[in-house]
Amino acid sequence: MPVGADNLERLEEEARREIAAAESLQALTEVRARYLGKKGSVAGVLRSIGDLAGEERARVGQLANATKQRIEEAVGERRGALERSDRDRALDAERIDTTLPGAEEPPAGHLHPVTRVFRDMVEFFTSMGFSIEEGPEVETEYHCFEALNIPEVHPARDEQDTFYVEGGNVLRTHTSNVQIRAMTGRTPPFRFIAPGRVYRHDLSPRHYPMFHQIEGFLVDEDVSFGDLKGVLYAFGRHLMAREIELRFRANHFPFTEPSAEMDYACLLCDRQGCGVCSNSGWIEWGGCGMIHPQVLENCGIDSDRYQGFAFGMGVDRTALLRYGIPNIRLLFEGDLRVLGQV
Ligand code: PHE
Repeated sequence: MPVGADNLERLEEEARREIAAAESLQALTEVRARYLGKKGSVAGVLRSIGDLAGEERARVGQLANATKQRIEEAVGERRGALERSDRDRALDAERIDTTLPGAEEPPAGHLHPVTRVFRDMVEFFTSMGFSIEEGPEVETEYHCFEALNIPEVHPARDEQDTFYVEGGNVLRTHTSNVQIRAMTGRTPPFRFIAPGRVYRHDLSPRHYPMFHQIEGFLVDEDVSFGDLKGVLYAFGRHLMAREIELRFRANHFPFTEPSAEMDYACLLCDRQGCGVCSNSGWIEWGGCGMIHPQVLENCGIDSDRYQGFAFGMGVDRTALLRYGIPNIRLLFEGDLRVLGQV
């Protein structure tokens, strides 16, 4: 190869082009080896200058060395640039955008339907000035029955209905025991609610051996059945998302006089009749009435001066209607496929 300034210039130009085109550190190393390596083009030039005459040799030698240095610099610059972009790429790849939404939404739980209904009920009554009372679930027969005027022979005492526990106590069959506990030793006026668990030996789409009631009672000097109706209608409407029919039906309880039961129109069948409402189109929601004077007296309250109303409504049934659940058992089996839908 004839050696001269022209050749070196062309060589440098080529080298620069290739250096600029090298897209990776690996490619750049290869380019560098081709030009600056022991067997590279510049070394070839340097080797061949031996054939040149003295002055010319020195001149070309200098040029070749200068070319070598400039190529080396160009390689260095390119290397720096490639390293920087490698790092940027790596940083880009590692960047985490903490504002991005998750790929999968974490499953969120919610309150049990019965808890939701309970909370709604409690809120309704506390906003009307009622306060909350509690009573034991394992109860004496006195508080569960006798003081409530329920004679020994009353069907509620039947072993079919009542769970008796050792020591002569019972699992309370209703929250009405709280009437006795809360009223004894208190002077009216007062108004209470008592939400809680109750137990009866019973099983059907509407019945479960453990269920929930909310008791309410108010005692004052001038209380009428009209007050009771007003409160219960407002209560019933408040609990359902849609307009729903409610009705009062005369009934009998030993601890209220007069007594009534309140029914919800069955929302599950739109009153057409279904398994849940035993084809009646109505679902018993709970019992109510004017507190029997004898019960007031049993609690040491002057029944000539005071009257009161009381009610005990089913909580689980409210949840069945509100959420369209066809069997009370589904509320208590803890099956997330069911509970997740409501
Ligand atoms: N304790 C009654 C029941 O469980 C309901 C009730 C409560 C009725 C208060 C009248 C007054 O069926």
